[in-house]
Amino acid sequence: MNADAHSVLVPAGPQAAGIAHLWWIYFGVCLVIALAIIGLTAALALRRTPVTAPDVAGDSRLARIVGGAVILSVLIVFGLLIVDLVIARSLRVPADRPALSIEVTGHQWWWSVRYLDPAVHKSFVTANEIHVPVGRTVRLLLKSADVIHSFWAPSFAGKKDLVPGHPAELTFQADRAGTFRGQCAEFCGLQHAHMDLVIVAEPPKQFEAWATASRGDGAVARGDSAVRGRAVFMSHSCALCHTIEGTPARSQVGPDLTHLASRTTIGAGAFPNTRGYLAGWIVDAPSLKPGVSMPPNPLPGDDLQALLDYLESLK
Ligand code: CUA
Repeated sequence: MNADAHSVLVPAGPQAAGIAHLWWIYFGVCLVIALAIIGLTAALALRRTPVTAPDVAGDSRLARIVGGAVILSVLIVFGLLIVDLVIARSLRVPADRPALSIEVTGHQWWWSVRYLDPAVHKSFVTANEIHVPVGRTVRLLLKSADVIHSFWAPSFAGKKDLVPGHPAELTFQADRAGTFRGQCAEFCGLQHAHMDLVIVAEPPKQFEAWATASRGDGAVARGDSAVRGRAVFMSHSCALCHTIEGTPARSQVGPDLTHLASRTTIGAGAFPNTRGYLAGWIVDAPSLKPGVSMPPNPLPGDDLQALLDYLESLK
């Protein structure tokens, strides 16, 4: 995936910038403390004065030093706590601010993404890829379909757990265009490490064009091979698990494939969306990503090529 840096320290929005700021404050304070401790330890180790018998004046001086250090430690910890609270407060976005609402549902091991719109016919579904317009507040409504997952896109915001039965919200804003990575950040089974998502931040006009295209039905199969591929899709197990808008395939067990060809990866970021990987995925997904729900589909060569032609037309 050709994504920008996947780092808390390279923020791409105000929420992530606040978190990066907090990180640097903690880093600076801890660095000063660590250097002071190392310096004092070295000074003591190099001291030439031999240890002598107990002396009362020395003991009371030592007690003052230890007492002062304890008070200083408490003040530093409280200072960091206050900075933490102030920055956490600044990350909150007012609830009345108009936002783009996207429902993100974690599954083992992929993400279902539903763009919500008050006009229901304008809602649409995609998978493993979130497009957002630069400069607009995005409100993610997070849910889980099975176990606990955690949504983490470090360039934009902190982590938020997806706990079954307990919907959560995460708000962020992208300040610059680019392709960014997200990742499930809570161990959720065998393929936890391959539960990626792509976040594409783009200028509002480009986003609107993408959203408009995504609202449409899947491409009408054109050409003999794609028409045959469509028939293969509908008559095999594909249609039992996936949706392609505008066709009889309406199941929501697996990712929505209406605009599969416009996505950059398959298997939740596990592989690039190329004809070769797609073919391998269809024929034997469990050997590419052990544990996935998608069963092997040993199709005859002609049927497979036709199916690939059809899927590649779903732009
Ligand atoms: Cu989902 Cu880890």
